[in-house]
Amino acid sequence: APPAIIAPSILSADFGTLGKACSDTIGHGADWLHVDIMDGHFVPNITFGAPVVTKIRSHVDRPKETFGTGTFDCHMMISEPKKWVKDFQKAGCDLYCFHYEAAVNSTAAESPEEQSDKMTSPKELIRFIHEQGMRAGVAIKPKTDVSVLYELLDSDVKEEVPDMALVMTVEPGFGGQKFMPDMMPKVQALRKRYPDLNIEVDGGLSEKTIDTAADAGANVIVAGSAVFGAQDPGDVIKKLRQAVEG
Ligand code: DX5
Ligand code: ZN
Repeated sequence: APPAIIAPSILSADFGTLGKACSDTIGHGADWLHVDIMDGHFVPNITFGAPVVTKIRSHVDRPKETFGTGTFDCHMMISEPKKWVKDFQKAGCDLYCFHYEAAVNSTAAESPEEQSDKMTSPKELIRFIHEQGMRAGVAIKPKTDVSVLYELLDSDVKEEVPDMALVMTVEPGFGGQKFMPDMMPKVQALRKRYPDLNIEVDGGLSEKTIDTAADAGANVIVAGSAVFGAQDPGDVIKKLRQAVEG
């Protein structure tokens, strides 16, 4: 499996001092920052948009290599993932991770401009994200079957292959929910088929649940409340990494 990547979710940080929270978290040994973008439509919660990402990006050095320290891992819990690709690229997003369900469920558009924002297939969207110079991730909600990702990951067209799969281990929308161990067969199936794939898990990860996720084959670990709620965030990050590295 690829190296362990620990990606604290800043959803659980103090939004009043978000820039400092970001630089502190990298200082505590985090690899990436997981940035949860919610639109109040795809999920029943609203967070923040590209202007906020621009500001917090300036508090953290850009990664010098692909997936290096300081990668902004933007988890796009939004209904129109194509519409925001360019804005987030400009804001400093490195990895644009959209939801498969949003890409296939784009609703009917009223104008040609709206049409081009809404009509997209996951493959076209991945290509578009790559054209903007970002890495592309595809996320699946708990009720979505993992096999929908195979067609994308098996593509011979390199530009249309995602760089990461995100298996949600809670229903997206809120931090601090309970980890769903019944999502682990999805992770196992992905790891078996794709030994080198970056497989991210998100939701309810902590020192209590990390072994289950690591044993299944996850290597990219998101943790919000477990890191930001800790007395010693650096220690939690270290323990999560040790569990993945075995
Ligand atoms: C939930 C978000 C998660 C969330 C995880 O919709 O995608 O990234 O912040 O929070 P914890 O780790 O507290 O479950
Ligand atoms: Zn997330």
